[in-house]
Amino acid sequence: MAHIVGGIATSHVPAIGRATAQKLQGDAYWKPFFDGFPPVRRWIDSVRPDVAVVFYNDHGLNFFLDKMPTFAIGAAPCYTNADEGWGIPQVPAIAGEQALSWHIIESLIGEEFDLTTCQEMNVDHAVTLPMALLWPDQNWPVKIVPVCINTVQFPLPSAKRCFALGEAVGRAIRSWGSHQRVLLLGSGGLSHQLDGERAGFINKSFDLAFMESLVHDPRWATQFDTTQLVEKTGTQGVELLMWLAMRAALGDKVERVHSNYHIPISNTATGLLVLSSPA
Ligand code: DHB
Ligand code: FE
Repeated sequence: MAHIVGGIATSHVPAIGRATAQKLQGDAYWKPFFDGFPPVRRWIDSVRPDVAVVFYNDHGLNFFLDKMPTFAIGAAPCYTNADEGWGIPQVPAIAGEQALSWHIIESLIGEEFDLTTCQEMNVDHAVTLPMALLWPDQNWPVKIVPVCINTVQFPLPSAKRCFALGEAVGRAIRSWGSHQRVLLLGSGGLSHQLDGERAGFINKSFDLAFMESLVHDPRWATQFDTTQLVEKTGTQGVELLMWLAMRAALGDKVERVHSNYHIPISNTATGLLVLSSPA
């Protein structure tokens, strides 16, 4: 059976793509953010994943307001990067692990999760920036299965439902008849609001409490409804749902390997968390 090696959650601010292209990693503004990643890459080298299941939110590239699935999953041979308007350099296409995609689809629809299945799918900065932070040479050593959660058009799925989705994805991965080693990624957050009266809103104490909860009390955030999450984290801060689904897929016991938190990058409080699953 497949083995989940652990999970990584990170923010995906588009400006990271520009800073990478312009090699600004050592600049005073960027260093506290990029310095979070070398320990993560060393950990990845030690756990040797074959596949990454990526919980992310599309920002209007592959799905627009006219057709917005609550939960969607890729089952494509390959995921091309396109730019939904942030002007950041594109990355090479990423191969899909179709066998795992279809196993998760069978398993989740069997458990009565009504997923949208996508045999063609473009991916935006929410997939490509975490990938490029983990593998800066962009010579991807893993295939991926993207799992997309709507945080763009209301009504959004609740934190409780995203947790249940993550748990079901974790069960599906563990029941996959393959010896592959699976890494989980959660892309988004932490607190940020890009527009409106509260543009620039950040909530450090909530972010840190949320990060801590993922280690010791993973259901903590499921007590909040969507309105409360927007109040506490900003309209785009609800992207923390990706972290929650990723954590739920890891199962009961995890160990914290590494974390980082830095304010701000652009309008966002950036967080980074690496959790390992016991063998
Ligand atoms: C920013 C953050 C995001 O999560 C995003 O998708 C786009 C922009 C920002 O802070 O600039
Ligand atoms: Fe985003």
